[in-house]
Amino acid sequence: MLTAGRATIVMGVQFGDEGKGKIVDVLSESADLVCRVQGGNNAGHTIWIGKQKIVTHLLPSGILRPEKKVAIGAGVVLDPLVLLKEIKSLEDQGISISPDRLWIDARAHVIMPKHRLFEKSSEEQLAKDGAAIGTTGRGIGPTYASKAHRDGPRVADILSRERLEAFFERHPDYREGFASSEALEEFIQAGGRIAPFVTDAAVRSQEALKKGLKVLIEGAQGAMLDVAFGTYPYVTSSSLIAGSAAGGLGIPPTSVGHIVGVTKAYATRVGNGPFVGELSGSVETLLREKGQEFGATTGRPRRIGWLDLVALRYFTSLNGLTDLVLMKPDVLSGFDQVGLVSDYLHRKNQKSLGALDWPTRLSEWSDIEASISYHPGWTDVFNVDNTFNEKQRTGKTSGKEDLHKNLASFIRLLETQVGVPIRYVSTGPERSEGVWI
Ligand code: IMP
Ligand code: MG
Repeated sequence: MLTAGRATIVMGVQFGDEGKGKIVDVLSESADLVCRVQGGNNAGHTIWIGKQKIVTHLLPSGILRPEKKVAIGAGVVLDPLVLLKEIKSLEDQGISISPDRLWIDARAHVIMPKHRLFEKSSEEQLAKDGAAIGTTGRGIGPTYASKAHRDGPRVADILSRERLEAFFERHPDYREGFASSEALEEFIQAGGRIAPFVTDAAVRSQEALKKGLKVLIEGAQGAMLDVAFGTYPYVTSSSLIAGSAAGGLGIPPTSVGHIVGVTKAYATRVGNGPFVGELSGSVETLLREKGQEFGATTGRPRRIGWLDLVALRYFTSLNGLTDLVLMKPDVLSGFDQVGLVSDYLHRKNQKSLGALDWPTRLSEWSDIEASISYHPGWTDVFNVDNTFNEKQRTGKTSGKEDLHKNLASFIRLLETQVGVPIRYVSTGPERSEGVWI
């Protein structure tokens, strides 16, 4: 899925937490440059290397491979203290991060304490009417608001005491958010410490492409949380669609090759808002426990539902997906039946929603009823028979011919319904657990 001199986009096509971290980690083995292009430390990408669990929030997951370069593009919003903490924690785990490996675009907007405070009070205000978004509390939305409002600091503005003072002179209100003069001092020091990594990530990425290197763009969150096309206003504040990815880094859209959509075999959502196909009761609890569906950033229990084929089709078309990746079908192992949201029906008359009826107002989401189809489940992702056992014993990896027949037909069904080939099926949390098909 990676091509020389091209960018491959890996993006979530649900509500985030599809398992992008793992597939990006797998793909980054053959990439040269791995980039984040939107969002900030609201993301949480979990990767298992053996028994070691690593979660990155801001750094692209490619950082785990010492020979790869990574970039934080202009479209990202960056919390300098979080970045430094993440760098330190990875360095403590033996991963070295030098300025020739990590490029931070000088144009990325900076999350300030004021942004987090503003978000907290606005969520509290909304909560009074039961309308809180359920954000991650990281100041993401207010930072993007400042960017659009053209008064927020960019990375270039915080790299030295002098620069930050010059910024505060123009925008004194940003100084107010700091809880103490110590906190301000810590922030000033942080700016100085990230300075060596700051560069023009756009030009560098363009050069990388011209040299024929393989670029991987690691999407954060998922299409259903897109600020325009998601379940607005229960969305994040950045554009998540493939059409925006090149702009978040500063490379031409013509340099994009594959656009890889990542979906779990079921669905989850963390935070409030519409969720067609949401489950409750024992299946919900079981899937949450088995799939460890708790937010990597906030620890909140994720809401659980069946995979939504209608949304998957909608976002496949909108993003021009060329490939699909299926995560976590192993979590469904042992279910007699596996559900799929195969249609959206108008609650009132039970008629299917037409192609031009994609909801644009909240009330329209509540008017939708999920039509669920059920498919035979799999006891294990693999057909655990003699050939399979022999392969395992002799250390041969399992291939697509070993997938359980019901999982294989589930995959074929998705491919026919969506019209895009599924290229990779993850069969467990570890790097090594997955089958290319
Ligand atoms: P914000 O991005 O913190 O403003 O949160 C807005 C919405 O997006 C909330 O429902 C969050 O739970 C959700 N969200 C933000 N980032 C992620 C993510 O990486 N995974 C899953 N949900 C997310
Ligand atoms: Mg996540």
